[in-house]
Amino acid sequence: MSVPEKIQARWSSRWVFILAATGSAVGLGNIWKFPYMAGKNGGGVFVLVYLACIALVGLPILMTEIMIGRKGRGSPVNAVRKLIRESGASRAWEFIGWSGMLAGALILSYYSVIAGWTMAYTVKTVTGQLAGLPPDQVSGQFEAFVSDPKQVLVWHTAFMLMTSGVLARGLEHGLEKAVKFLMPSLLLLMLGLLSYAITNADFSAGVNFLFAPDFEKAIEPGVLVSAIGHAFFTLSIAMGAMMIYGSYLPDQTPIFGAAAIVVVADTLVALCAGLIIFPIVFANGLEPAEGPGLIFQTLPTAFAQMPGGIFWGTLFFVLLLLAAWTSAISLLEPAVSWALERFHLGRSMTSWLLGGVVWLAGVLTVMSFSDWAFEFSFLGITKENGIFDMIDILTSIIMLPVGGILIALFAGWVLKREMIEELLGLPHDSLYRIWRVAVRYVAPVGVAIVMITSLFA
Ligand code: PHE
Repeated sequence: MSVPEKIQARWSSRWVFILAATGSAVGLGNIWKFPYMAGKNGGGVFVLVYLACIALVGLPILMTEIMIGRKGRGSPVNAVRKLIRESGASRAWEFIGWSGMLAGALILSYYSVIAGWTMAYTVKTVTGQLAGLPPDQVSGQFEAFVSDPKQVLVWHTAFMLMTSGVLARGLEHGLEKAVKFLMPSLLLLMLGLLSYAITNADFSAGVNFLFAPDFEKAIEPGVLVSAIGHAFFTLSIAMGAMMIYGSYLPDQTPIFGAAAIVVVADTLVALCAGLIIFPIVFANGLEPAEGPGLIFQTLPTAFAQMPGGIFWGTLFFVLLLLAAWTSAISLLEPAVSWALERFHLGRSMTSWLLGGVVWLAGVLTVMSFSDWAFEFSFLGITKENGIFDMIDILTSIIMLPVGGILIALFAGWVLKREMIEELLGLPHDSLYRIWRVAVRYVAPVGVAIVMITSLFA
């Protein structure tokens, strides 16, 4: 098998890598998906399960993925290929690279549509289109908006242009510049909104909802698997994103420390998003269990009523948009890096072409909320938005966990010990042993059990 030349580009420092990886991790998953999943699944218990998944499965696999990228120094497909060759393993492991790259592109196809909604809501909020409207009209507007393919398509297109535009400019002038500016902005916006939730909304009700688990409530089948799937999604693992970012990581950077910072930052942002959203929801007597409409229907209802709603609402949607942007970049970079190695068309052309392919796939999601919507049932849950839901299920519930299991097994059982030890750069031998138990046994077995039981529940 032929392996292209090594990737030469590097992040300019370890901190830029941490910013970029955190930018990838923090996204719609933290601010849109996590709060509505927590809301739907009763709050506290879900949060506990999710935290356990992040620590036991998420962190070890994240470290592994960064390590594979750095050692392989190539697009996910080629990085894995190189390690397979060095360790004399079966070519079947290449699946990890392919499936990651494909999952990333598939996810981006719908991610961009939702990010497009966010752009539209930024405009709706800042121009005061929702101000003062009663709840049913705010909801009505959302439904009318998402089921109008023409409008949604415009925003989806704009967002894909923003994403491909950054990628076309390359690592130094595109990705680095974007994250250096966007991540601090995101932090400021988040702190501003949090201070609002603490001082002006029902903060204690929000805290209670998120952190006081109600063990009386039975955990529904599907909750565990959604929590695991979400742990993968929110940390951007099993999608090639962390592998490609790892392949730009300078030598000698201790991976454990960097990965731990990313995990903690990602978790804090998700919890903060909950602590911003639920206090506002409760202060306005709204329902926490709204589902995907939580931030587009419930929250705007609150913004429409409250003093300063235009200001805070706009801040919120801009925050969401920036978070989505830095994630979208990392969803397409694996495919861009692979196509670059394979077709040599130059970065700019490759980024625009692949952006076009993903844009086209995104049209399926756009239409899933209008003319092509259909109902189907999966794991006992009824879904209404046809192809969009199918892509979501295929990626978050199937491809990510399966990819994650394989990454863990590959590093735990196939790669040679010396290769790993030196790479992970763990400060203590005991940490190395913990990592090895995690990737050999805990992560694969845990994820497999959850997947299998949920299928038969
Ligand atoms: N982690 C991102 C989020 O939480 C989504 C994402 C997944 C980004 C995979 C990149 C790769 O929204």
